[in-house]
Formats: sequence, C-alpha cells, structure tokens
Amino acid sequence: MKHIIVEGGHKLAGTIHVSGAKNAVLPLIAAAMLPAGVSYIEETPWLTDVENMCEVLDYLGVSTEYKDGTLRIDATELADSNAPFEAVQKMRASFLVMGPLLARLGRARIPLPGGCAIGARPIDLHLKGFEAMGAGITISDNYIEARVNTLHGARIYLDFPSVGATENIMMAAALAEGNTVIENAAKEPEIVDLANLLNAMGGKVRGAGTDVVRISGVPELHPAVHTVIPDRIEAGSFMLMAAVTGSELFLENVITSHLQPIMAKMQDAGVRIIDEIDRLHILPADRFDPVEIKTMPYPGFPTDMQAQFMAFLTLANGTSTVTETVFENRFMHVPELCRMGAQISVHGNTAIVNGVPKLKGTCVEATDLRAGAAMIVAGLAAEGRTVIGQVDHIYRGYEDIIGKLRAVGAHIYEE
Ligand code: UD1
Repeated sequence: MKHIIVEGGHKLAGTIHVSGAKNAVLPLIAAAMLPAGVSYIEETPWLTDVENMCEVLDYLGVSTEYKDGTLRIDATELADSNAPFEAVQKMRASFLVMGPLLARLGRARIPLPGGCAIGARPIDLHLKGFEAMGAGITISDNYIEARVNTLHGARIYLDFPSVGATENIMMAAALAEGNTVIENAAKEPEIVDLANLLNAMGGKVRGAGTDVVRISGVPELHPAVHTVIPDRIEAGSFMLMAAVTGSELFLENVITSHLQPIMAKMQDAGVRIIDEIDRLHILPADRFDPVEIKTMPYPGFPTDMQAQFMAFLTLANGTSTVTETVFENRFMHVPELCRMGAQISVHGNTAIVNGVPKLKGTCVEATDLRAGAAMIVAGLAAEGRTVIGQVDHIYRGYEDIIGKLRAVGAHIYEE
C-alpha cells in the first residue's frame, strides 16, 4: 500500500489550475445514459471515482473513452439493468445510475451502495422519489430492485435536501410522463450543472439552484456536449494549504460565487483573498483567528470542507468550534490531527479546537477522502515529515494532487 509523504514547513508559490468537479461529473456521467447516442463531458477530472463510474457504465452496455480531459460516453447500447456489486460497493455515487436505468429501461437492480465511511448514508429519499413516480421497489440480499411500466411525474418533498436524491429524481423525471416537482431540493452548484446538461439534451428543468426544482418530462433526450464546473472543494482545499503555509497562491478555473461559503469563513479567520473574477489570489498571513463553523447544505458551509478547515483551525490563535450537521461520524480525522499535536475534543457533533502554535509530522491515516486532504493541509504546515496511509481515498477526489502541489513548491511525494 502506497503512502504520501509531506515534508512540512515549505511555502507554496505560483498558480494552480483547479480541475472539473468530482461531485458534478459523477451525476453528469450518469445523465449521459439517458439519450441513446454519444455525449461528451469536457474538463472531466481523471479520478478513481470517475474510473469506477465508467466501470459501472461498462457493465450496463455503455462504453466510455477518456482522452485529453474529455470523456466520450456512448449510451446507444444501454441494455443491462444489473449494476455490478464490486464497483457499486466502492462508491456510493454509483447509485446515481438508478434514475437513468428506470427512465430508459423501466428496471434497475443495484447493490446497496458503499462509499466513504462517514455515517449511515441511507438512500430512502431516492427510493421515496422513484416510488412516487410509480416504481415498485424491493430490497433483498443487499440488492435494490426497481421496476416500472411508465414513470410518471410526481410532487416529491425531500425531508432533507439530499444532493444525490435530488439528482437521481431529476434524471428519472427528465424522461417521465408529465411534470415532477421536487420540494426542499438540494441547491448545490452541482445540481445546476446537472440541470444545464439535461436542458442541453432537450430536457425541461427549471428552478435548479433553488429549493423547488420543476421537471417537465420529454419522450426523448438527445446527446450533448457539456463542460464540468470547477471543483469548489478542491479549490477550497488548496486555499487552506496556502493559508497554513503563509503562502501567496493563485487559483485559476474557479467560479468564485460557488466558493463564497468557504471564503467567508477564511476571511473571518483573517485570511486575505482577492477575488479577481476568474481567479483567486490568496495572500500570505502569519496568524489566524479562531472561528465557528457549522456544516449545512449549500449555500451553507460544505461538509466536504469540514476536515480540511479543522486542520487549518488547529493552528488558529484561540479556540474554534466545528459542528457537523450533515453527516454523523464525520470526525474520524480528529484523532489523526491530535497525533500531530492538535488539541481537539469532540462533544457529540461538535469539535472544540484549541489552536496550538505548531503541528509535528508523524504517521497518520487518510480515513476518508476529505480527511485525507486534511492530513495534507496539516502536513504542509507541520514541522518535519508526515506519512499518510490509506491514500487511495485521496485519489478518489483529487486529480494529480501530488503533481499540482509539487509544481507550486510543496515537498510532497508518493512512496
Ligand atoms: C453528496 C456528495 C458528498 C457530500 C454530500 C453532502 C456527491 C457524489 N457526493 O453526497 O461529497 O458530502 O453530497 O454535501 O455529490 N440522506 C438520507 N436519505 C437519503 C439520502 C441522504 O437520509 O436518501 C442523508 C444522508 O445520510 C446525509 C445527508 O442526507 O446525512 C446528506 O446526504 P446527500 O446530500 O444525499 O449526500 P450524497 O448525495 O450522498
């Protein structure tokens, strides 16, 4: 098993190009199953999660080819409705093929999804949506089977604005008979990106980005070419890496409005960020103030930035609090940070972070994808050498992270 080694205490300098968003591209790949034909997704980040999603599509008779950042998806032959156990177990987002399979074939059989171990992560809201649209659902032997003659539009209220459920229902509704209204829908930028692709395919989706998404079903969609939005979580992670090392860094390929919830908290902590419209300029600072963070659905502070932000706050000048409201069990990075000298105590879903003057490099684990990124944030700031294990988690969501950081002066490598 490989490790990532970080030699801390070196400043970063230069410009990093932010990749296409992992959390946008996975539903976009699923949506490319809806039209019978060839769609192209530009700025696709080459990540193990993307490879895994392509593997799932391959089993279903949908071929994919990746070249120069563009993913070609040929869904002409979509034939099989049985998703493969191993690939789905690896990644929860593969459950997003359920909506397209139901819409095109009227049936789907999918293993109960896996993914990062950050809580129970049920799929009841996805199923509630499909049932409201006329699907019959059975669960047995760790498989979910759904069948429907004709999907029809429905009014669906989500008890929680689940990103995946909103996306899965949008995709099924795009080819359903009649109108679907999703209330208390997720408002993440990735939902808007999906709506843009569906509309480019001839779909009728309105309201994406608000809490009511309306979809008028159409009998058929046609293939499309679409460019993925930049990854706001990757950008946020690099911003924190610049901040903890007291570096001046530029980030290009960003949509700064998507980064507002992250930038606002960094600015509260005293980080100076200049929004140059199409790029961000992070200025060096040598001390940070403590802040209070509470994760919330968009436009609140993203749960996917919580671990990295906590790593940053371990070095703040005072006591911060971090409250996780989206997932239970998303504090697995706390003992790892404490191993590096951080002072953090957990009380229910709140972590109290007492800032310390410095962290010390040691052996830590990337317990999940974002926890792994948090270890890099901490490792870059720490004295000495940080050895990060279970790095496969990191490669699920950060494209060429070692190459990108080395190019701006970080002492980081794989061993
Ligand atoms: C997506 C992101 C993930 C991010 C999360 C929250 C992708 C590929 N992944 O995951 O990186 O951390 O949004 O921003 O986009 N829930 C239910 N029932 C359901 C579905 C969800 O109770 O049917 C709960 C979950 O357990 C969790 C909360 O809703 O507590 C949020 O989950 P959700 O928004 O669905 O996250 P994902 O789409 O899985």
